[in-house]
Amino acid sequence: MKKRIGILTSGGDCPGLNATIRGVAKALYQEFGTDDVQIVGISDGYAGLIQNQCRDMAPNEFSGILTMGGTILGTKRTPFKTMQVIGEDNVDKVKAMKDTYKKQKLDALLTLGGNGTHKTANLLSQEGLNVIGLPKTIDNDIFGTDVTFGFHTAVDIATDVIDRLHTTANSHGRIMVVEIMGNKAGWLTLYSGIAGGADTIVIPEIPFDIEKLSEACLRRAATGKAFSIIAVAEGAYSQDEAKLKKKERQKAREERGEITATNRIAKGIQEITGIETRTCVPGHMLRGGSPTAYDRILATKFGSRAAHLVAQEKYGYTVAMQGNEITENKLDEIAGKSKFVPMDDQMIITARDIGVSFGD
Ligand code: F6P
Repeated sequence: MKKRIGILTSGGDCPGLNATIRGVAKALYQEFGTDDVQIVGISDGYAGLIQNQCRDMAPNEFSGILTMGGTILGTKRTPFKTMQVIGEDNVDKVKAMKDTYKKQKLDALLTLGGNGTHKTANLLSQEGLNVIGLPKTIDNDIFGTDVTFGFHTAVDIATDVIDRLHTTANSHGRIMVVEIMGNKAGWLTLYSGIAGGADTIVIPEIPFDIEKLSEACLRRAATGKAFSIIAVAEGAYSQDEAKLKKKERQKAREERGEITATNRIAKGIQEITGIETRTCVPGHMLRGGSPTAYDRILATKFGSRAAHLVAQEKYGYTVAMQGNEITENKLDEIAGKSKFVPMDDQMIITARDIGVSFGD
């Protein structure tokens, strides 16, 4: 019997999704032969699985997509917390997803996504579906894997942003505060901050003190360099905010008309130092375009590992990289956990060794 393998991409997109889809497909065709496996593309993530938006795909659709950004399958955010709630549409989403799996006669479902995607993948696995996850996100915050595909491409893009800010900041003697995505984790800011030579790096794992951030700029100015580059993670918060519960912090921010810490940092530093301070938010540019060579290779390795898991009928796992080895973790052991930057991470130590301030 021809195996039928469903594949979907869910959550925020990132470079490397298509490279991973291609890796999975090519390895499945090698494993089973093109006549003995049918790949079923599911549109727009779990939304497509709920609504049975699926189609049988031809082998040539997986060719020529290695370098393409985004996802040929489309993606949507369908938050995990809504999955088990029956909304106004009266749809039991978990039942609908199981029904689609049956209607499409799937032997397995491959889910490419981040933390939210993995929570739903685990739920579906516990509901008896044969699920395999693949870890994507520019945030690099998936528990149990050293790296996710999309992360290194975003590091390169953010590094390029910081490089470009250096020349203009230098010309004008300004402080530039650049806000970098990453959700609640500081990985992307830490890596691109170091690669781009940021003078100060602000991440959620190390709450900042505006006085300390300003002192770092003034110290630099005293050496004859008026300009500074401050890389701020979108999830960063101050030492005062760290004393508040998440909801209180959000409320206080709403009252001040803020979403992220970037503008407050820029305003505070300008007031304290007297140096003109500007902000830059590259935003979704960090998720756009072609994956780097590193991510193409990682995506291909992850994709082929997922195909091997299908061949072994080893379900309820997500692919991972630990050390330099491709491996897998049980979905129920990683779902619902996030990976944050530990204080003894080599990158933190290296940054401190070269005098980078974290504003603490
Ligand atoms: O998880 C990837 C990510 O880009 C985060 O860094 C960011 O917080 C979030 O997605 C933005 O989501 P959206 O594209 O839905 O605005």
